[in-house]
Amino acid sequence: MSKENKEENNVKNIDTDTFTITDNKTGETIVMPGTTGAMGNRLIDIRSLFGKTGLLTYDPGFTSTAACKSDITYIDGNQGILLHRGYSIDELANQSDYMETCYLLLYGDLPTPEQKEAFDNDIKHHTMLHEQLTKFLSGFMRSAHPMAIMVGVVGALSAFYHDKMDITDNDERRLAAHRIIAKMPTIGAYAFKYSLGLPFPMPQNSLSYSENLLKMMFANPAEDYEINPVLAKAIDRLLILHADHEQNASTSTVRLAGSSGANPYACVASGIASLWGPAHGGANEAVLKMLEEIGSAKNIQKYIKKAQDPDDKFRLMGFGHRVYKSYDPRAAVMRESCHDVLRVLGVNDPKLELAMELERIALEDPYFIEKKLYPNVDFYSGIIMSAMGFPTSMFTVMFAIGRTVGWISHWKEMLNDNEQKIGRPRQLYLGEQQRSYIPIERRGHTDRRTGWSWLWGGKK
Ligand code: CMC
Repeated sequence: MSKENKEENNVKNIDTDTFTITDNKTGETIVMPGTTGAMGNRLIDIRSLFGKTGLLTYDPGFTSTAACKSDITYIDGNQGILLHRGYSIDELANQSDYMETCYLLLYGDLPTPEQKEAFDNDIKHHTMLHEQLTKFLSGFMRSAHPMAIMVGVVGALSAFYHDKMDITDNDERRLAAHRIIAKMPTIGAYAFKYSLGLPFPMPQNSLSYSENLLKMMFANPAEDYEINPVLAKAIDRLLILHADHEQNASTSTVRLAGSSGANPYACVASGIASLWGPAHGGANEAVLKMLEEIGSAKNIQKYIKKAQDPDDKFRLMGFGHRVYKSYDPRAAVMRESCHDVLRVLGVNDPKLELAMELERIALEDPYFIEKKLYPNVDFYSGIIMSAMGFPTSMFTVMFAIGRTVGWISHWKEMLNDNEQKIGRPRQLYLGEQQRSYIPIERRGHTDRRTGWSWLWGGKK
C-alpha cells in the first residue's frame, strides 16, 4: 500500500471509528472513540465519558457492557460459535482432552508433547488435600448441599496458602492455578463421599485427571474398581464443555473479587457461590427436577404454557442464554454424548426421551422461536450425570470442577492486564434526598402490621 493510501486509510479509520453522543437537553456533543476486537461487535470506548462530562451509563446485568479485554474465549451468540484461544469447542471436545484444554486456556496455545507431560505431572502432584482441610470438611452436616461444602472448603484453601501467596509473583500465580485445578476433583469427590458416610479416597497419580475423578467419586473402598474408558471419556468431555465461557456471572465474580488483590482461592470460592444459582450452573440440577416434575410427554404442553405465562415463575430450565440466540454449541455435543453414555451403560432413561420431546416442542413454539430460546449446555448434562450415578446435588459440583480452569485463567489474565483496575460499578440512585434526623419520640406511630414481610417488599 502506498504512503498516501495508508495515510488516507488511517484518517478514514480515525474519522469513522468514533461515535458522537448528543445531549438533547443541552445540545452539547461529545465524540467517543470506537474500537473492535480481533472478532466480534464494535464497541464504544466510554472510559473518558465520566471524566469529561460527569455522565454515567446505566446497564443492569451488563447487557451492553464489555468490562475487560480478554484473549481467552470468543462467542458469537447468533452463529452459535464458541472458540477457546481460536479453537472451536466441538474440535476440542472431539479431539482434545481436558488437561490439554486447561493448558490451552491458561497458557494460550496447545502444548507440545513435553509441555503436556510436564503439565499433567505437575497437576498430579497437587491433588492431595491437607489433613487439616479434611477435618474442616468433616465439620459440615452430612446433609449439607455439596455446593455449600465446595464454597466453604475452596474458600478455606486460602487459610492454608495465604501467608506465602504473593500474587505479584508469576511463579506463585502458576502454583496457585495448578494447585486449584488439581484439588477440585478431590474436594468434589470428598463432598460426595461425605454425604454418603464413606471414607475419603486418596487420589491416584497413575490415572488421568478424568479417570482419577471417576474413581474417587464411584469406587467402593472394599472392592476393586475398573475404570470404564467410555465413562472416563464422557467425564473428560463434560469437563471440556464446561471449561470456560468468557465473562459469565461466575467468571465476572472471580474477576471482581480478584480485582482488589484478594487471595485466588477465596476468589474461586466466590465464583463457586455465583455458579450455584439456578440461572447459571445450578440450572443442570433444576433441569432434572423439572423433567421429574413434568413426568411424561402428555404434560409438556402444560409446562410450555406455564413458561410463557408472565404471572408464573416457572421457566423452562436449560433453555435460553444471555449470549446465544441460536443453539448453544456445547448443548449439541452434550446431546450426542448423552446418547453414547446411555447406550454404553445400557440405560433406558425415559427422561432422555422426555427431554428430546420437550426440546422438539419448544423449538417449534412461536414464543421460543420469537425470543430465540434454545437448549443450553445444562439441558442434557444432568441426564448424563444421572445415568453415571451422580445425585442431582452433585451436578453443579461437576460444572464447578470443569470451570475452575476458566476462572483461574481469567484471574491470571486480569492480573497481567496493565489497564486492570479494582472493579467498582456506579449506580442510579433512587433513594431519599438528604433529610434531617428525627428523634424516635417525635416519629409518630406506624399502622399495626403483623410480621416483617411488608418491610421486605410484601403487602402492607
Ligand atoms: N423459559 C421461558 N422464558 C424464558 C426463558 C426460559 N428458560 N429464558 C428466557 N425467557 C424469556 C424471558 O422471560 C424474557 O421474556 P420477556 O422478553 O417477555 O421479558 C426473554 O425470554 C429474555 O430473557 P431474559 O431473562 O431477559 O434473558 P437473560 O439473558 O437475562 O437470561 C437466562 C438468560 C439463561 C438466565 C435465562 O434464559 C434463563 O433463566 N434460563 C433458564 C435457566 C438456565 O437454563 N440457565 C443456564 C444458562 S447456560 C449455563 C451457564 O452458562 O450457566
